[in-house]
Amino acid sequence: MKRKLVIVMVGLPARGKSTMARKLGRTLELDGIRVRIFNNGELRRRLASDENASSSEFFSPANERGKELREQISRINIEQAQTFLQEGGEVAIMDASNVTRERRRSLAAAFPSLPLCYIECLNADEEALEANLERKAVLKEFRHLSPEKALESFLKRIAYYESIYEPLDTEANRILVDSFDNCILQEQITDVLPYYDRIRDVITTRIVRNLFLVRHGETHFNREDRIGGDSELTAKGLAQANALAEHFATVRIPIIFTSNYVRTMQTATPIAERQDSCSIIALPEFNEIHAGICEGMTYEEIRRKMPHVARARGPNKYRYIYPEGEGYKTMEDRVHRGLKKVFFLNNYDENIMIVGHRAVNRMILSSFLTRQEEEVPYIYMPQDRYYHIQIDPHKRLFELVPY
Ligand code: F6P
Repeated sequence: MKRKLVIVMVGLPARGKSTMARKLGRTLELDGIRVRIFNNGELRRRLASDENASSSEFFSPANERGKELREQISRINIEQAQTFLQEGGEVAIMDASNVTRERRRSLAAAFPSLPLCYIECLNADEEALEANLERKAVLKEFRHLSPEKALESFLKRIAYYESIYEPLDTEANRILVDSFDNCILQEQITDVLPYYDRIRDVITTRIVRNLFLVRHGETHFNREDRIGGDSELTAKGLAQANALAEHFATVRIPIIFTSNYVRTMQTATPIAERQDSCSIIALPEFNEIHAGICEGMTYEEIRRKMPHVARARGPNKYRYIYPEGEGYKTMEDRVHRGLKKVFFLNNYDENIMIVGHRAVNRMILSSFLTRQEEEVPYIYMPQDRYYHIQIDPHKRLFELVPY
C-alpha cells in the first residue's frame, strides 16, 4: 500500500509558501515519490485573467463575487488533488494562503482517510519581506499598473488576508516555519506522518538547483592592482560582461543579484539585457570587503607604507581586520544574510546568478563547501570563469566554467 499525504501550506501572501512548496515537491520527486503541487494563485491567473481578478478589491472579504470565485478555484484544485491521489499520486501539496479555519476544515473534509500536514510560513524579516513585495509588484499580473500602484494594490490585498487570518491552532500535525531563516519554530505532530523526516530536512536545508557565481569583469583598479574603491570596468571588463551575456543567452535567469558597486552592476547589465525578463537586485550584503585605511591602495603600496598591515594580514588572513575596515571573519554574518535574501527572493527558480567580488565570492562559495577558514581567503576567483554550484539532497557539484 502506498503511503499518501496531503501537505497544506498556510500563510499570508509573499511569505515564501510557494518557494517552500516547490522545494518540497522537487526533493520528494527526486526521492522517487509521486508528488504534485496544486497552486490556487496560478489557477486563478489562468482562469480569471482579467485585471479585476488581480485588483485588491477582488480579495476583499466583502466582495461576494471574488470570494465565490476563490472558493471555486480552491474546489477545483481539491478535486484535482483527489483524482491525483486516487490515480497513484502519493503526496499532494495544497499551495494557497488557506488562512481561515473554515477553508482548512473543507480541505480536511475532502481527504477524510488521509493524514494532513499543515505548514504555516511566517517571515519575521521586514527587509526581505519588503524586497519580496517589490519583486512581486513587477509580476505579469500587475503589468497594467505602475510599480508604485502595484505595490499599493498588493499591500491592500495582504491587509484583506490579514483581516481574516486565523493562525493554525487546533489543527493536528502542524509545523510553524520561518521561511527566511529556513528554521522550524514549532512542531505539533500527533500522527505518524509518512515522509516527515524528509519534510523537516527539506524545510531546514538550503537547496541550490543552479547557482552561477560570477566575479565582475576587469576594472581599472584591478589593472593597477588597487583594492576596494568603486572603479568602473575597463574595455576588457566590458568585453567579459558581453561574453557572459552571450554565454547565458539561452539559460533563463530571472534575477541577477549584485553588490551596490558599479563594477558588479556593469557586469550584470548586458547579461540582464540579453534575457527575456530579468531584474537586477543590488544587495549591500554583497559589497566587497572594506579595506578601511587601505582602500584604494595597491598591495605593493601597503607593503611599503603600512608594513604592519601586510605583516599582520599574511599569516592570519581570515581573521585579520583592516584598521577601520573589515576582515573575512567580520563579513560572515552579512554575506550569509545576503544569501538568505537570495534564496528567499529567488522563489526556488531553477537558476540563480550572483555577480560579486573576489572576497565576497570566496565567502559565498565557502558557505557551500566545508573548507577550513585558513583556506577561504585563497580560493581561486578568476574573472574569465565562474563557479556553477548545484546542491540537493542527492548530490553536490562545484565546477569552474570558462566563458
Ligand atoms: O583586488 C580586488 C579585490 O576585490 C579588493 O577590492 C579586495 O580587497 C581584494 O580583492 C580581496 O582579496 P584578498 O583578500 O586576497 O586581498
